[in-house]
Amino acid sequence: MTVTIGPIKLCMPVILAPMSGVTDMPFRRLVKRMGVGLVISEMIASQAMIRHTRQTMKMIEKSADEQPMAVQLAGCEPEVMAEAARLNQDLGAQIIDINMGCPVKKVVNGYAGSALMRDELLAARIIEATVKAVSVPVTLKMRTGWDDHTRNAPRLAKIAEECGVQMITIHGRTRCQLYNGKSDWAFIRQVKQAVHVPVIGNGDVVTLADAEALLEQSGADGVMIGRGSYGRPWFPNQVAAYLSDKTLLPDPSLSEQHQIIKDHVEEMLRHYGEETGVKIARKHVGWYSKGLNKSTDFRVSINQADNAQAMKALIDEYYVALSDS
Ligand SMILES: Cc1cc2nc3c(=O)[nH]c(=O)nc-3n(C[C@H](O)[C@H](O)[C@H](O)COP(=O)(O)O)c2cc1C
Repeated sequence: MTVTIGPIKLCMPVILAPMSGVTDMPFRRLVKRMGVGLVISEMIASQAMIRHTRQTMKMIEKSADEQPMAVQLAGCEPEVMAEAARLNQDLGAQIIDINMGCPVKKVVNGYAGSALMRDELLAARIIEATVKAVSVPVTLKMRTGWDDHTRNAPRLAKIAEECGVQMITIHGRTRCQLYNGKSDWAFIRQVKQAVHVPVIGNGDVVTLADAEALLEQSGADGVMIGRGSYGRPWFPNQVAAYLSDKTLLPDPSLSEQHQIIKDHVEEMLRHYGEETGVKIARKHVGWYSKGLNKSTDFRVSINQADNAQAMKALIDEYYVALSDS
C-alpha cells in the first residue's frame, strides 16, 4: 500500500491530521521522528497569510526534518487562496492542503471550511485558482457533506480531481454532526470509487483494529489520525507497522516516555518562549499521562505550574516515581 501525491511518495500510508492548537511544529517534528508518512500544519487563514500576521508566520514555521510537510489553507476567495498558496510554496511548503472540512462557526460563517461543500461552484473556483498558483501538489480535506441530506463528497471529489487536486482526505462525518456520532468509514468508499487520485480515510481511528477496519470498509489508500495521537506521538508509526505486516510495536517504556515528554516540552519552550510554551505544554503533558497511575493529581499540579522549571520538576518527579513502582 503506497500513497503518492504527485511526485511525492509517502514512506507509509499514515498521515497526521491537521489540528489547530495541536499540530504545531514541535508536535509535527516529534510525530515525524517517531514515524509517519506526512504531517500537515494547523489550518492557516488565507487572509491572515497574505497579511503576514505574526501569529500566522509562527504557525507556518517548519523545519527540514519534517518534510514532506503540507501547509493547510482555509479561505473563501479564490485569489486570496491562490496568493496564500504561492507565498507558502515560496516559503518551502511541499504540498498545499485546502480545508473544506472545518465545522467551526467562525470559519463557516466566513464561508470557508465545510461551508464550501454547499457551494460546489465556488469550491471549484478556489481549488482551480490554488492549483494554478503553485507547482507543488494541492490536496483537499473535507467531510462527507453538510448534513445527512447533502452528502456530496463523492461529487465534490470528482470536481476537485478535474481541477487538479492530487489527494483527497475524507473525515466520515457531515458538518452538522460536528464531532458527534461516528465517522462513516463505509461512505468513504463512494469517494474512492469516484476518483483516481489517492483517497485517505479519517475519523475515530484510536486503535490498530480501527485503522484496519477503516481501510477494509472504505477501500481507502491510507488513514489519517488526529485525536488518536494525543499523548501518543508513537501511535501513527504503530498503525503503519501493523498495516504493513501485522507487526505489533509496543508502546515506549515509561522511562522512554519520560524522555519523549521532556524533549517535547523543551521544544515547545524553544518554539513559543517560556510563557506561552508552558501553557501549551500543559495540555500535551496532560494527554501523555492519561490512564497512568495517579494521573489526575499530576494533571492538577501540571495545570498550576506557571514556569518551565516547576513544570519540568513535576514531570521528572512523576515519571521517576512511575518507573520505580
Ligand atoms: C483540536 C482539533 C483541531 C482541528 N483542527 C483542524 C484543522 O485545523 N484543519 C482540519 O482540516 N481539520 C482539523 N480538525 C479535524 C481533524 O483533522 C480530523 O479530521 C478530525 O479530528 C477527525 O479525526 P480523528 O477522529 O482522528 O481526530 C481538528 C480536530 C481537532 C480535534
